[in-house]
Amino acid sequence: MAEQNITPNALPRHIAVIMDGNGRWAMERGEDRVFGHANGVESVRSAVRAAGELGVEFLTLYAFSTENWSRPAAEINALMELLVESLAGEVGELVKKGVRLRSTGAIDALPATCIAALRNVEEKTAHCEGLTLILALSYSGRWELTEAARRIVRAGIPAEEITEDTMRSHLGMPDVPDPELLIRTSGEQRLSNFLLWQLAYSELHFSPVMWPDFREDHFKAAILEFRGRERRFGRTGEQVLKTDHSQPENGVIEEE
Ligand code: FPP
Repeated sequence: MAEQNITPNALPRHIAVIMDGNGRWAMERGEDRVFGHANGVESVRSAVRAAGELGVEFLTLYAFSTENWSRPAAEINALMELLVESLAGEVGELVKKGVRLRSTGAIDALPATCIAALRNVEEKTAHCEGLTLILALSYSGRWELTEAARRIVRAGIPAEEITEDTMRSHLGMPDVPDPELLIRTSGEQRLSNFLLWQLAYSELHFSPVMWPDFREDHFKAAILEFRGRERRFGRTGEQVLKTDHSQPENGVIEEE
């Protein structure tokens, strides 16, 4: 792939990723699905590195969905162990690179070792001011919206006072802007219950590459494609041309 430079003024602030294809990647090689997840960790490193270097502010990775609890116990355990190992192994590098770790989802449902590893890295990187890496764990969009509804009812907010802002402020990460770009790997073209509220206006990039093969060049290619799109937010193309300063400028990407 050609060497590509992406300038900061054209970047999405927040990129969300559905890391898909680990199982198929492993099975194509005659290996167990867990082998795919283990190799997917290098792709996570690669995405974090690329996002951090480019100046993306938030990167949210769908690491374990509510639905993933129905997978075989051995695969769930291996994924949880991989998470604990990766967190312990990467904390130094995250601090060095100024990456702050946060998490979203039903974290209480995770094994105690996993919660401890997560909290440890969250605490140690709380002061970091570079990229914020958000791991969605035991997460689903419908779960998050249901939780928001519960919080609103518990807060005693009258029905007629509920607005979109009320909903937004009761979601898991109200301070995080909606992703401008969603990347899904492995050729599948679904949202799979990910960030259902937040992805309402996001651009979707579906890559045929399996997650364990997804590297910095693929990540940059997704951003370049995003930059070529016109984001209209329900307006006409003419209105966008007159008023939309968020539309990436042309000419700032150099392709060699
Ligand atoms: C989907 O592939 C991937 C997952 C369910 C887990 C993703 C986890 C990792 C990449 C490793 C750990 C993560 C971190 C943040 C250290 P799949 O198994 O559904 O693939 P398939 O569709 O080919 O079966």
